[in-house]
Amino acid sequence: MSEIHVRGLRALQGEVLIQGSKNAVLPMMAAAVLHKGTTVLVNVPRIQDVFCMMGILEYIGCVCTLDQGILTINAQHIKENRLPSERVKRMRSSIILLGALVGRTGEAYTGYPGGCSIGKRPIDFHLKALEKLGVSIREEDGCLEAKADELKGGIIEFPFPSVGATENALLAAVVADGITEIRGAAMEPEIQSFCSFLESMGAKVKGQGTSCIKVEGVKSFHDTCFFVPGDRIVAGTYLAAAMAGKGQVRLKGVPACHLSAVIRELKNMGGDLEEEENGLILTMDRQILPADIVTGPYPDFPTDLQSPFLSLMCVADGISNMEETIFEGRFETAQELRKMGAVIEEKENKAAIKGKRALWGCHVAAPDLRGGAALIVAGLSAEGTTIVSGCRHIERGYEDICRDLQMLGAEVYRKV
Ligand code: EPZ
Repeated sequence: MSEIHVRGLRALQGEVLIQGSKNAVLPMMAAAVLHKGTTVLVNVPRIQDVFCMMGILEYIGCVCTLDQGILTINAQHIKENRLPSERVKRMRSSIILLGALVGRTGEAYTGYPGGCSIGKRPIDFHLKALEKLGVSIREEDGCLEAKADELKGGIIEFPFPSVGATENALLAAVVADGITEIRGAAMEPEIQSFCSFLESMGAKVKGQGTSCIKVEGVKSFHDTCFFVPGDRIVAGTYLAAAMAGKGQVRLKGVPACHLSAVIRELKNMGGDLEEEENGLILTMDRQILPADIVTGPYPDFPTDLQSPFLSLMCVADGISNMEETIFEGRFETAQELRKMGAVIEEKENKAAIKGKRALWGCHVAAPDLRGGAALIVAGLSAEGTTIVSGCRHIERGYEDICRDLQMLGAEVYRKV
């Protein structure tokens, strides 16, 4: 079982190129199933969720090769519409293959998805959206059977801007007969890049980035080669790390405009930010100031950076408050931070954090993907060495967090 060792209280200095976005590339990989041809994705991160999705695509008949960040998917022959349950259970994104496979073959069979244990994570929005487009869905013994003789455009209204459900709806709508209107759609940058990718393969999509996306179904697609944008959550994680360790870092390969809410909070907490065309520079040379943060759907503060910023609040000069409005089970990291001396009081979906000058390094366990990254951030502002176990969670979304933080001057290394 590998561990990550973090030596704290060392100033950071350096620059790093941010990996391609996990949450942008996964729906693009699913959409490749819709096209009886070749799809090329560039800047693909080497992370466990990408490997898992590749395994599922190969299981149903695609030919996938990933070399130097270039992923080629040939979906000429789809020979299977039953998804492999062992892989499906490993990540949340497997559920969007329902829309892609029904869109391609007219039927799909899958188990329930997995992913980080950060809440109940139902899939009712996904299923209702597909039903609106003519898909009949049967649930039996934990298995889902989705069938559609013909997908027909319709109006889908989401009660909450679900990222995954918006992606599933889009995957069926782009091949549905007629016009589909998705109201209450998610507006995250990953949705915007996904819609641009769909257009690049011949889909007709309008309104991405707003809460109303309109799609006109098409009969076929063409080969495409698409660049996956930088991962804004990985970038936000490293900005939090730079705040914790102090010093000056430069991030390249991610547009600052995708991080507006995060940049606002970093400035509130004492960071100095300089935005560049496709990156940004953070300078931090003082104690962290307390903050009051509420997570929410884009363009609000992203829930995926709640845990890394919880770590920062633990060493802020005063009382901070964090409110989590997306996932009801996303304060698991607090328990591990308390082992490092953090003073965190939770009440339902709110936490009050009494900052202190420094935490103390000790053994902690990653509860999930972003919680694991948050413990590394906490280790950078702790006396001594912090040992983080449960790296398998972190590897789902970070290509090589030790390599990247070492590029920024941190003493962070993996120990097998
Ligand atoms: C995506 O998850 C991301 N994952 C998550 O990132 C991210 O935290 C989340 O969007 C919110 O931004 C991927 O893109 C692979 P949702 P998703 O559907 O699609 C409720 C990470 O760390 N809901 O927007 O699962 C749900 O319970 C991961 O990279 C329903 O009630 O999130 C939650 O409270 C973690 N019914 C809220 O909506 C549904 O059918 C938002 O979920 C679907 C969702």
